[in-house]
Amino acid sequence: MRIVIITSNMSIQIEIVRTISGLRRKVSSWRKNGLSIGLVPTMGALHNGHFSLVKQSINTTDKTITTLFVNPKQFGPNEDLTFYPRDEASDVEALDALGVDLLFAPSLAEVYPVDFATEISVPGIGDVMEGVFRQGFFIGVATVVAKLLIQSLPDRAFFGEKDLQQLYVIRKMVTDLDIPVEIVGCPIIRESDGLALSSRNIYLSADERICATELYRGLNQISQRALNGKQISILIKEEKKRLLNSGFSKVDYLAVCNTQDFKEMACLTKPAHVLGAAWVGKTRLIDNIQIC
Ligand code: PAJ
Repeated sequence: MRIVIITSNMSIQIEIVRTISGLRRKVSSWRKNGLSIGLVPTMGALHNGHFSLVKQSINTTDKTITTLFVNPKQFGPNEDLTFYPRDEASDVEALDALGVDLLFAPSLAEVYPVDFATEISVPGIGDVMEGVFRQGFFIGVATVVAKLLIQSLPDRAFFGEKDLQQLYVIRKMVTDLDIPVEIVGCPIIRESDGLALSSRNIYLSADERICATELYRGLNQISQRALNGKQISILIKEEKKRLLNSGFSKVDYLAVCNTQDFKEMACLTKPAHVLGAAWVGKTRLIDNIQIC
């Protein structure tokens, strides 16, 4: 009797490409056949938030590329680059099951050769909130996203509203540099108690996980009370205090901002978002909601 062992890898259809030249070859063969291309950039440790972007790309383009690259240029010296969760095998399996055509997972040297020098900075929108508390973060994001867009030349690229400021920095960069791509913003995917899904949520202990949901509750409180005419500066002060009392170790910022330029507002005018970043223990959470 002959026993055939089928490993799960044997049924994987997704193509894994690790070089820019390999990616370009594939993209140009699709282009020759008139196919449209969607790009979903990620740093891996994928969850349903990422998958919602992937599904939107699959539903609206002929071919979907997901990228997996933990980009060191967007991590500060005291941030979690070394510990950032990585599980390529399970990411590959999930992306394959969703029907992604190609995973671009380059090495560090492929993206940043030793003599790499160029940086893209988006002052203004990139200088507030995340830009204040994570110095250099948006330079790292804009630089790597510009590279990924130029490497793959997609018709559309998909980004989550979870990282709203990042989405707007990328939109501005694409407009300013005339990169011919449509940037599509996708809604935030949340747990049933409201916590926004994030790769970093796995750092949370059971107690911290319970506390974490208070950030979303806080943003909603600010939104509702601002709509009722309460003074924004007072709301923010009260909510910061409440978060610290409910177990948060630090609040980086809570702000009501104009959605176009991310300038903070003292009096509510629409379109506006409430945005927040706060620490539960050693885990930094960010979230936002639209005021409507
Ligand atoms: P990463 O944190 O892996 O997120 C990849 C994409 O998934 C981003 O566009 C992010 O906004 C989106 N996303 C994450 N959680 C989400 C959620 N709960 N709901 C909806 N979308 C969500 O963001 C990055 O990577 C990097 O900065 C990157 C753009 C890849 C550049 O390195």
